[in-house]
Amino acid sequence: MAYFRITGTSHRRVLSGAVDVAGAKNAALKAIAAAVLFDDPLGIANLPEIEDVSRMLDLLESMGASVTRAPHHVTIDARRIGHTMTPEISKRLRASIVLTGPLLARFGRVTFPHPGGCVIGARPIDAFEDAFRAMGARITLRNKLYTVTAGGGRLRGAEIFFKKQSVTGTETVMMAAVRSDGPTVIKNAAMEPEILWLAECLNAAGAKISGAGTSTISIVPVKRLRSRGKEMRVIPDRIEAGSFLILGALAAKRLEVRGAEPAHLESLIEHLRAAGVPISTAGRSMIVRAPKGKLRAIDIKTHEYPGFPTDLQAPMTVFLTQCEGQSLVFETIFEGRLLYTDSLNQMGANIQLMDAHRALVRGKTSLRARRLESPDLRAGLAFVIAALIADGVSTIHNIYNIDRGYERVEERLRALGAAIERFDE
Ligand code: EPU
Repeated sequence: MAYFRITGTSHRRVLSGAVDVAGAKNAALKAIAAAVLFDDPLGIANLPEIEDVSRMLDLLESMGASVTRAPHHVTIDARRIGHTMTPEISKRLRASIVLTGPLLARFGRVTFPHPGGCVIGARPIDAFEDAFRAMGARITLRNKLYTVTAGGGRLRGAEIFFKKQSVTGTETVMMAAVRSDGPTVIKNAAMEPEILWLAECLNAAGAKISGAGTSTISIVPVKRLRSRGKEMRVIPDRIEAGSFLILGALAAKRLEVRGAEPAHLESLIEHLRAAGVPISTAGRSMIVRAPKGKLRAIDIKTHEYPGFPTDLQAPMTVFLTQCEGQSLVFETIFEGRLLYTDSLNQMGANIQLMDAHRALVRGKTSLRARRLESPDLRAGLAFVIAALIADGVSTIHNIYNIDRGYERVEERLRALGAAIERFDE
């Protein structure tokens, strides 16, 4: 098992340089699922080289797809894929559930286990089940495997209202509806940029999806999707870009975050500026500096896009420990996503959990090095940031949880002057 050894900067502004943002995990995983909809091989470019992407490709391969991997690129020929999702792999990542949409579109039938993924809350699939039923499917659960069968072998178009906005739910239904009988309308759809990008890529291959990126998405089914050699180029990872901005706001003389899409990060940028962090944006580049003066406490409330992303809540909480005064962190999406704050307290932070959704951060507190376990992907990166600014030498274990979503993060941070090494236990 690998671990990171990090020597902290003792709260000084010492990092500098430029870092390039990788392709978005939560776009790439959906593009891989989308390959199942295509009647010809699909190329995906700017693919992040991360564990979750490898697992998703393993999943398609294990189901009969032919997968040709190259650096930051993959070609998937899913013409011979079957409709049973390999349980051992599917259970390892939440994004596997998205594959049910394209498989239903193609076969009118899919068998899959309850998806896994980061342990950050209950993560039910009731919204998917409701949507499939509304589209005329029957669902059975046997030996911990769900089987969804469309009546008459093909899903019916339907009007679907999501009681809660769901990212993977929206993507799954959108793809299922691309090849169903009759039009579908998704209401209270999630509006994340990765969904708009996915819809645009599918439309370029012949799909008829309108309204993606808004809360109402309409899909008119088509007979086939063909890439005709046109690749899907994965958009920049806004969560990774945002995490680098937060690190820069705490520890950089000057950090340039390159190849990002600042328009996808407005909420974070506005919050950081309100706390006193200078950030400038130009085209696809953002420049951030840790201010010489004090940082001001601010409240954050996670919200569906374009609100403050839940996936940046943990790194932002590390930032708030360095602000003067009292900040409230209100995590509205997941009920298990504040537990990592206990580890920050052991480093010297003063964070009080009010309930499962709210934490009060009192700052500024100096952080001391510690042995840390990465509990999930985003909290894992938050620990990297905390260890990087702390006094002393920390180790972070269970870093598979970091490698799931961040490509060679230690090498990229070292290039900025960070003292971080990977070791094998
Ligand atoms: N929900 C239900 N029933 C469902 C589905 C969702 O009640 O059937 C609830 C969830 O429990 C949650 C809310 O709806 O309270 C929103 O969850 P959503 O379905 O949007 O989350 P997700 O699609 O499972 C994706 C990302 C997450 C990210 C969330 C929110 C992927 C693979 N995962 O999850 O990313 O936190 O949207 O933006 O796209 C990560 O990358 O670290 C990560 C956890």
